[in-house]
Amino acid sequence: MCRSEPDAAVRLEASWVLVGPDDPVRGYACLVFARHVIELHDLTDDEGPALMRDIRKVSGAIARIMNPVKMNYEVHGNTAPHLHVHVFPRYRGDQFEGRPIDPRIAKRPAYAPGEFERFREQLANDLISGRARMAPQPTLQTERLLLRPFVLDDAPIVQRLVGAREIAETTLTIPHPYLDGMAEAWIRTHRAAWEAQDRGTFAIVSNADGLVGAIGLHFRPPHRRAELGYWIGRPFWNRGYATEAARAVIRFAFETLPLNRIHASHLTRNPASGRVMVKAGMQFEGILRQHVMKWDRPEDLAEYAILRTVFEAAGA
Ligand SMILES: CC(C)(COP(=O)(O)OP(=O)(O)OC[C@H]1O[C@@H](n2cnc3c(N)ncnc32)[C@H](O)[C@@H]1OP(=O)(O)O)[C@@H](O)C(=O)NCCC(=O)NCCS
Repeated sequence: MCRSEPDAAVRLEASWVLVGPDDPVRGYACLVFARHVIELHDLTDDEGPALMRDIRKVSGAIARIMNPVKMNYEVHGNTAPHLHVHVFPRYRGDQFEGRPIDPRIAKRPAYAPGEFERFREQLANDLISGRARMAPQPTLQTERLLLRPFVLDDAPIVQRLVGAREIAETTLTIPHPYLDGMAEAWIRTHRAAWEAQDRGTFAIVSNADGLVGAIGLHFRPPHRRAELGYWIGRPFWNRGYATEAARAVIRFAFETLPLNRIHASHLTRNPASGRVMVKAGMQFEGILRQHVMKWDRPEDLAEYAILRTVFEAAGA
């Protein structure tokens, strides 16, 4: 089993990465497979390579941060906790030099004061930031909607919908008027923004109405949070599309990305957006007075968020 009470957990593609201040070696990490399986041969053909990708990511991150001489790896088949992998960095002159790591005879603590906290932060940053490559942006399916990456062919509809004054009026980054070429230029930024873990933008496509809007996350990897934003074309308001899309994106984000918090804010004179946030499970946190300038006028923002703990407790 993993040796100490974990102090930090990052979710990767197939596993949770646990580290703790009482671990037997500086820079040690334990990867616990995310699904309950006992043995390596219980993994499916897709899960095995996914776990190996996680091990490579973690091993590379630890090597960059702690600069060990080499690494040792141990894979343990277990019932409780289930299948997991120990990653032990080895150092010249470490207390186990010339021997396998034996946590039972470790002299504690392995970390100097403050060293664990620095390691934990650097590891999380390294695993969450661009070094750990993002899987391709997926397509999400809900009852009535398909949320997919935009393609250049969407540009004319985007220009028509987002060009309406009612959309620009309650958003902060959408230009008005929305000129020819702006939609194409915006769509062209999406792929690189996703790969850099900067932004993830989805087209909201309804079974009944076609492309009706957009929804996206703006990631802040060092803080393991993302900001949610969206718009729905004026002809399609009040059909529940924004709420359905927001729920799907929040679920996707917590289930597949190592995020801790998803937040969103709206101008206080735009209560419909606040309703969307509440219906998507977010909690009101407060008003930021005159936090932004909109068309040269100061405006109040209402801030909402959902934490991973709340999402998981809701059994979502
Ligand atoms: C805000 C916006 C995304 C909502 O999209 P939508 O698909 O109409 O949202 P939904 O249908 O899922 O939910 C809308 C909710 O707001 C409510 N609502 C609509 N107008 C309202 C108003 N003037 N005051 C209070 N609530 C209002 C609706 O009744 C509904 O809530 P309910 O289900 O409890 O009745 C859409 O209006 C929009 O794109 N606006 C312009 C861009 C924008 O403001 N984006 C958000 C920036 S924070």
